[in-house]
Amino acid sequence: MALGESTTVLVGVTGGIAAYKSCELVRALIKRGYRVKVVMTQAATEFVTPLTFRTLTNEPVAVSLWEDDPSAPVHHISLAEEADVFVIAPCTANVIAKMAHGRADDLLTTSALATEAPIVVAPAMNVHMWRDEVTQANIAALRARGVTFVEPESGELACGDVGEGRLARVEDIAAAVIAEAERARDLEGRTVLVTAGGTQEPIDPVRYIGNRSSGKTGFAIAAEAARRGARVTLVTGPTHLADPFRVDVVRVETALEMYAAVMEQAATADAVVASAAVADFRPAEVGAGKIKKGAMPEAITLVRNPDILAELGERDLGGVRIGFAAETSDVERHAREKLLSKHCHMVVANDVSDPALGFGTESNRVLFVTPDGTTDSGVIHKRAIAREVCDRLARLLDGESSA
Ligand code: PMT
Repeated sequence: MALGESTTVLVGVTGGIAAYKSCELVRALIKRGYRVKVVMTQAATEFVTPLTFRTLTNEPVAVSLWEDDPSAPVHHISLAEEADVFVIAPCTANVIAKMAHGRADDLLTTSALATEAPIVVAPAMNVHMWRDEVTQANIAALRARGVTFVEPESGELACGDVGEGRLARVEDIAAAVIAEAERARDLEGRTVLVTAGGTQEPIDPVRYIGNRSSGKTGFAIAAEAARRGARVTLVTGPTHLADPFRVDVVRVETALEMYAAVMEQAATADAVVASAAVADFRPAEVGAGKIKKGAMPEAITLVRNPDILAELGERDLGGVRIGFAAETSDVERHAREKLLSKHCHMVVANDVSDPALGFGTESNRVLFVTPDGTTDSGVIHKRAIAREVCDRLARLLDGESSA
């Protein structure tokens, strides 16, 4: 897609003296060729009028959750869905706090909660409010969920104090928006196959051998890749998660079923991301009916399941291959071994010995292990991991030597 073409940027304006600089931001984004829509908090309208933005954008400006026109689309959904990028500049400490806690009591914060678009936040506030540990904790929480911050500058503030808190330069905010807009389509035309969840290997019709994978990681990756324009097939073990938007979902139970589904899709895939926790073994025999207590054998004989990822590697199928590694010790060393033995371009490794991270949790800490080195993500939300995986995948698909 050509830069700017049919890209909608939603600009959120909150109540601070720097609100007048949003007009320059809106102009810069329009100049770049984007369609710009503006949503304001009631407080922002004390500083700049909706009419100013309406005149600049030639679009209606939204302020209230309660639309007078009953035929108008439900705003918090329509704005959230229309946005390819949502930038909030200036963003007050109050709005940052609301977003960090999922509060949605006006149109701007409701749109922020409802959107699937990347969010860029340019804070502006008094230096003491900026430095307050509550504000910093809220910012850290939003960053961990994948929100991009354009840090405020230092200098004399409107209130007379000197320090950090002045809205970043309009050029820097625009650059962050442009980077997000470009990223928003960087997997367009690509076919991506993602595996997720854990497989269940039946002992009889009611019992199985399984693991604690929830599928959250793989579902987040599939959703992110689809949002960035890829055609995505998600092959998943049993999970309670709903199908991600615009993703073809193939639900399987066992490793053999996952193997068959992946092999069917692999020949046409540009990339495979294997986040599933596939059972390495399955019971050699499956009871036709529920095995009675007295008839249960002393031991269950297991046979090996195929290693799906390793086979893709051996047969050079699936294009760019990103594997995962669940380890309980020597995480990086084992991940590097898997990078070679499974012929992957990258391995995303995690230490699953910590029950607070990894299986079933919202956040995780992973190592991105490539032939060129290792990067530690720190503890971040699985959506942020998905975003980083897709960033690296896009670079690998573009033929850059390293992710
Ligand atoms: O689903 P969540 O609750 O979000 O949890 C995420 C997770 C912990 C499951 C995820 O972060 C993770 O670590 N996934 C890989 C789990 C795993 O099976 O790791 P492994 O080291 O055993 O396997 C290495 C790689 O080979 C993986 O890409 C795996 O998908 C693949 N594999 C393994 C065995 C097999 N028979 N076939 C495979 O394709």
